[in-house]
This record gives sequence, structure tokens and C-alpha cells, in this order.
Amino acid sequence: MTAVTEAKAVKAQTLPDAQTVTYVKHWTDRLFSFRVTRPRSLRFRSGEFVMIGLLGDNGKPILRAYSIASPAWDDELEFYSIKVPGGPLTSRLQHIKPGDQVILRPKPTGTLVHDALLPGKRIWFFATGTGFAPFASLLREPETYEKYDEVIITHTCREVADLAYGKSIVESLKDDPLIGEMVDDKVKYYPTTTREESPKMGRITDLLRDGTVFRDLGIDGIHPETDRAMVCGSLAFNMELKEILEGYGLREGANSEPGEYVVEKAFVG
Ligand code: A2P
Repeated sequence: MTAVTEAKAVKAQTLPDAQTVTYVKHWTDRLFSFRVTRPRSLRFRSGEFVMIGLLGDNGKPILRAYSIASPAWDDELEFYSIKVPGGPLTSRLQHIKPGDQVILRPKPTGTLVHDALLPGKRIWFFATGTGFAPFASLLREPETYEKYDEVIITHTCREVADLAYGKSIVESLKDDPLIGEMVDDKVKYYPTTTREESPKMGRITDLLRDGTVFRDLGIDGIHPETDRAMVCGSLAFNMELKEILEGYGLREGANSEPGEYVVEKAFVG
């Protein structure tokens, strides 16, 4: 292939999946969120992820899995990302501006979906860091409030500023034209920090083990009959929380066989 035909081939391969950036917000020097146009044909379930990326210098796409942070009904797609120093994708992606194009493979998938859970009364969303992203989608999803009487979102980050994106999503719920009235007083937000002073310090795993979370929220524990959970964070976090949830008697679910909790790794980080 000549250089010209090769370039054309790359263009033909990637352009059908290109979407336009509509909004970018930098929350800290390590965290940003952005919105892109949504392909008309893209259907997904709130909580799922897709592959997104940019074209590398060699003309090949650099793609990573990203949870869709916007709900399934939204006209646009939102993503929440860390900036990994020297990271092949995020060191470039952090510079995107409205009008730029990103590649988005329209094949959503994932386990943090309502279909993977058996019916329950109360749902817990456990997140660390950018693991908040799928819950930013699910917190804005009407099905969450149709299915559950109570929704508890915990978010553990190193520093207070790392909580800002999640906090803004939670604070915006009541004013949301679609779900504002459904949310009512169902949502309880439980942010914690581990490396900077804040009203609630400590890893959520420790705060569960010593019962602090339950005392703070006025809840008598997590029970397989009533409670469901979704977990999204680092691998170590997910493993610890799995063990804690299994200890309460909850069993892991999947799309093919719904259970009482589901887990997914926060991808970019
Ligand atoms: P810590 O500061 O004690 O490591 P990171 O930025 O490394 O992804 O971590 C995000 C948050 O998740 C941090 O507050 C971190 O706490 C916490 N964390 C990391 N690993 C675990 C774990 N195994 N269990 C609970 N929390 C964790």
C-alpha cells in the first residue's frame, strides 16, 4: 500500500466511529469529564461501558474501555477520566476541546446493569476514584428509582477535590427534569477521603467492617433479602468488597444469572 492509500484506509476504518466533543470540564489536575455526540443507532443500558480513544501518531486507534457516565436516555454521552501521567491515551485525551473528534466503538457491554441483579429494596453503589462513572449513569436512570426504595452511593477518594464530580452529580439529581421527582429522599450520599481531612475519613471497606457506615446512615446492616450492591473501583478494592458482601450472604450476579451484587473494575487508572 502507498502512504496515501494507507491513510485512506485508516480514515475509512475510523471515521464511521468518530464522535464530536461537545463539552470538557477539568475537575482537578488529575480528573476531567467530557461529553460527546451520541451515534443515533447507539443503544445501551445505564451502567455499561464502551471503547473510546484517539488516533495514534502511527494512524492506529488507541482505545480504552470507559464507562458511560450519562444515563441511557441522554442525547449525548458523558465520560469521566483520570489523567495518567505518560498514559498512551489519557495524556492526549486530557487536551481534547469542544469540536474535536474522538473514536467511539458503538458496542456497549458490562455487568453493572439492573438486569444482573435480583429485585430488592435498597441498592448500594460502592465506588472509588473514577469508579464513580457508571454510577453517574445509574443515579440518573429512572429504573433505579422504580426498582428501589433507597439508593446509597459511597465514594472513597484520596482527596476532597477528587469527590467534586460525584458530588455535583448527586446534587443535580433533585433538579433533573426527568428523575427529579422520583429521587425524592431516596438517595443517600456517603463520600469519604483517605489522604486529606474531610467530614468522613477512611476507606469504605474499613467503615463497613467496623459498622461506622451503618451507624452513620441509621441502617441495620446489609442483608441478602433486601440489599443489592454494585461495586466499581480498583482491583484490590473490588476484591475486598466482594469478600465483605459475600460475608453478608450476598451472591455475585451476571447478565446471564442475576444475583445480589455485581462488580466491575474501574478501567482507566
Ligand atoms: P488509600 O488512599 O488508603 O489508598 P486510587 O487513587 O489509588 O485509585 O484510590 C482511590 C481511593 O480508593 C483512595 O481513597 C484509596 O485509599 C481507596 N482504596 C484503594 N484500595 C482500596 C481497597 N483495597 N479498599 C478500600 N479502598 C481502597
